[in-house]
Amino acid sequence: MSYPVLEAIYSRRSIREYTEEKVSSADLEEIVKAGIWAPSGKNNQPWRFVIIQEDSIREKLSLTTVYTHIILGAPALIAVYLDTNAMYDEVKDHQAAGSCLQNMLLAAEALGLGAVWIGQILKNKNEVNTILGLSSDFDLMAVMAIGHPAHRNQKSNRKDLDDFILKKF
Ligand SMILES: Cc1cc2nc3c(=O)[nH]c(=O)nc-3n(C[C@H](O)[C@H](O)[C@H](O)COP(=O)(O)O)c2cc1C
Repeated sequence: MSYPVLEAIYSRRSIREYTEEKVSSADLEEIVKAGIWAPSGKNNQPWRFVIIQEDSIREKLSLTTVYTHIILGAPALIAVYLDTNAMYDEVKDHQAAGSCLQNMLLAAEALGLGAVWIGQILKNKNEVNTILGLSSDFDLMAVMAIGHPAHRNQKSNRKDLDDFILKKF
């Protein structure tokens, strides 16, 4: 028996180099759709998205992070926000945003695309809002860079399972 979700979880890697091929609008919408099917407390669905493919916006955003090369190299970006007016619990809404982003990464993997979660850009999140024309009601959680992988040589590792399990009763 095969377990496609487990396969995607284990084979997904952060992809930071892309070909020049565009990402289709259908694929970008599928990734957002996977995001909105993440769980959220009270099913309040506090996430909001900005889909970016225009060069001029990508160029401006690339200057707001040390990962300029990733942003410039990625044919598509999705900025993931929390709508602070839709929030009900600080911790739980942030957890929901994390589950949304993970769904999006797995969707990209399932579609044969490569993606990386860029968190460093949060250092300049006010500047990002200005570039995207959004008020401070929208709190940036991450920018996801997406494209067709230039290669799949990325390696990653995890510590042993036993390092994480505090107790077993
Ligand atoms: C909250 C968060 C922030 C991250 N920020 C960045 C980032 O700013 N730049 C980057 O290249 N990768 C970033 N990553 C990706 C991690 O570096 C990556 O997930 C980790 O090294 C494990 O590699 P893997 O995703 O290939 O398993 C971030 C991941 C998370 C969950």
